[in-house]
Amino acid sequence: MRKVIIDTDVGSDDAVAILMALLDDSVDVLAITTVSGNVPVEQATANCLQTIEVAGKNVPVYAGADRPLVRQPVHAMNVHGKDGMGDMNLIHPVTAPVPGIHACDAILDLVRKNPWEIELITLGPVTNIALAIMKEPETMGLLKSIWSMSTAGFGPGNTTPVAEFNVYADAEAYKVMMNCGVPIYIGGADLYEGDAAWTQEDMDALLDTGNPVAKFAVECNAALAKYNLLHCQKSIVTLPDAVTMAGFLWEDVRKLVSCMAYVCVSEPATYGQVIFYAGQVLADMSGFDAKPYGFAEPNCSVIADFDGKLYKQRLAGLLVRHQ
Ligand code: RIB
Ligand code: CA
Repeated sequence: MRKVIIDTDVGSDDAVAILMALLDDSVDVLAITTVSGNVPVEQATANCLQTIEVAGKNVPVYAGADRPLVRQPVHAMNVHGKDGMGDMNLIHPVTAPVPGIHACDAILDLVRKNPWEIELITLGPVTNIALAIMKEPETMGLLKSIWSMSTAGFGPGNTTPVAEFNVYADAEAYKVMMNCGVPIYIGGADLYEGDAAWTQEDMDALLDTGNPVAKFAVECNAALAKYNLLHCQKSIVTLPDAVTMAGFLWEDVRKLVSCMAYVCVSEPATYGQVIFYAGQVLADMSGFDAKPYGFAEPNCSVIADFDGKLYKQRLAGLLVRHQ
């Protein structure tokens, strides 16, 4: 059983990823921590509680950072809806977060008690993770791994031409995480379109099952569906967090590329860009040989060659498993 903590800014694609982890028998979700991102942290916390209740599970939730380390908060209600969950009147949790314990302290406590065992999955801005690393770097060094939906991967940005939302929302925190020395696995914004996107047919098939979990997973993405119809004239739902969760759960749906990653935080035009160098031959190798980016060896693995069709089959199987 893999021991997992999920850190999330529960928007609707996060909710699908959380359902995957809760419903997969190979995973023990020790806790879920929430952070400002898609929506303010209070809303992300309510959305998280609701998602856990829909899955019929009992997992402690700890609220975390309500703002980034340095920059002003940014949200994505224009994509996920005002409540972050499709504005479908789905969010009426009867449970509450654990009172009086900040997400970063909850993460540190669990890692301290489970050295070398915990895999931390980040689905939003990594402010809580950076706070934990800055508070107790040695403790966070006891993590087994970090799996992160973040960066543009090997493609363009989705929030600026070069930056993906989770990094753009707190690039300073992301830089702290990328330098913490823990094995890091990244699913970027280049993975979730094409075969990996839910089509109307995929969503209708899930609704036709009459399964309440599958219904919730589709309905909470109603705003995302509208956003995609408006901006790319396609009735599809793209699920970045669910794709990275699939990469964590099922190694046969992806390959990994070992990379050096450099996080841009100083120039406004490139704020939140993450430059990956996978060891390819470059015209001016002297530049990289001198390691101008400040590191000498790879500091992460990036998901590539993602099998969208296989992922969607597995996802559908998970969502209809529990009545
Ligand atoms: O860029 C996509 C990421 O930003 C996803 O995690 C989505 O939920 C938003 O947080
Ligand atoms: Ca997210």
